[in-house]
Amino acid sequence: MTDLQDIADVGRDRRRGGYSRHGFDKVELELRAWFAEEARRRGLDVRPDRNGNLWAWWGKPGPGAVITGSHLDSVPGGGAFDGPLGVVSALQAVDLLRARGFTPSKPLAIVVFVEEEGGRFGVACLGSRLMTGAIAPEVAAKLTDADGVTFGEAAHASGFDPLRMGRDDRALGSIGAFVELHVEQGRGLDVPVGLASSILAHGRWRYTFTGEGNHAGATLIEDRRDPMLPAAQMVLAARRAATSGARATVGRLVPNPGGTNVIPSSVDVWLDARADDEPRTREVVDRITSAARAAAEDEGCAVRVTEESWGGTVHFDPGLMADIRGALGSDTPDLPTGAGHDAGILAAHVPTAMLFVRNPTGISHAPDEFAESDDCAAGVVALATTLEHLAR
Ligand code: GLV
Ligand code: MN
Ligand code: MN
Ligand code: MN
Repeated sequence: MTDLQDIADVGRDRRRGGYSRHGFDKVELELRAWFAEEARRRGLDVRPDRNGNLWAWWGKPGPGAVITGSHLDSVPGGGAFDGPLGVVSALQAVDLLRARGFTPSKPLAIVVFVEEEGGRFGVACLGSRLMTGAIAPEVAAKLTDADGVTFGEAAHASGFDPLRMGRDDRALGSIGAFVELHVEQGRGLDVPVGLASSILAHGRWRYTFTGEGNHAGATLIEDRRDPMLPAAQMVLAARRAATSGARATVGRLVPNPGGTNVIPSSVDVWLDARADDEPRTREVVDRITSAARAAAEDEGCAVRVTEESWGGTVHFDPGLMADIRGALGSDTPDLPTGAGHDAGILAAHVPTAMLFVRNPTGISHAPDEFAESDDCAAGVVALATTLEHLAR
């Protein structure tokens, strides 16, 4: 809690409430500098990789490394815990291990991934996707933020060379285990600490509805081709399509040009859809797309659908989970989650697990996100015990 307090004033969003901290923006860079300082103060060796992620090593990097960490960016108007809790818990776990007199026999590191939420450039888990090759560096470099700045430009301005980004086999090959600690994001955990079992398949799609920009007063209703109408129908279709545990969300809708007295010429709508598996998720999106196309046609509008990111169902490593349970206690519960994580990206490449800290309200991606300090402390102890077990 002291560490979270240290960064409590960095990136506060006065307008939305909570925090807005985005990959390679001024605030995230300040947080990275804070992390680097904290890590160095603990004698860790801080090294950025070529994909914009920061690593802090206890011992020399090498094969069989035990890695923990998370991210410091947030969604727009996000909470204090999603991301930073995993980073500060890792720092605290190192302190606790030292206090226990433990010295790892395997290389151990804390990693901070860049742009996990995709709050600035649209694609979540950008740092881990780049590192694992899940996104091509030339595609990532061209992603743009709301001001038209590309990821490549932002990376370059932050000291990274976008031309050197991409799948990092050396880093991946050296990881023996990755364990991310995170605040749980629903109401799925009724004890302080648990393990994640799986992550829903999920993706993001952009629907661009185009019609005819015109005057709000002078244009008769029957003369309009207003793209806001099919956009609104699509939002309703998303709710209708999300059955049997599937989730479909429109959290962002941008009319262009965006004037109260202007019929928009186009509307961009972003869909976040998640379900148990790929076919089910695709089915939900297909239903929404059919409704969007029909509604666009009714209004004399067009719609273009672009898949912006995709990830299949993740099952965390059963062997690693069993190993961690051996260290933490056989009664440690596990639970599936609908939230995405860098751990979900890494899971396809290296043995990966996640520790969840109880969320008493079930609120996340919002300013009211919360975890009790006793539960956070239990998370640190669990993480330290896990790392001790894995790196001994
Ligand atoms: C990230 O936290 C996500 O699940 O969207
Ligand atoms: Mn998040
Ligand atoms: Mn997170
Ligand atoms: Mn996440």
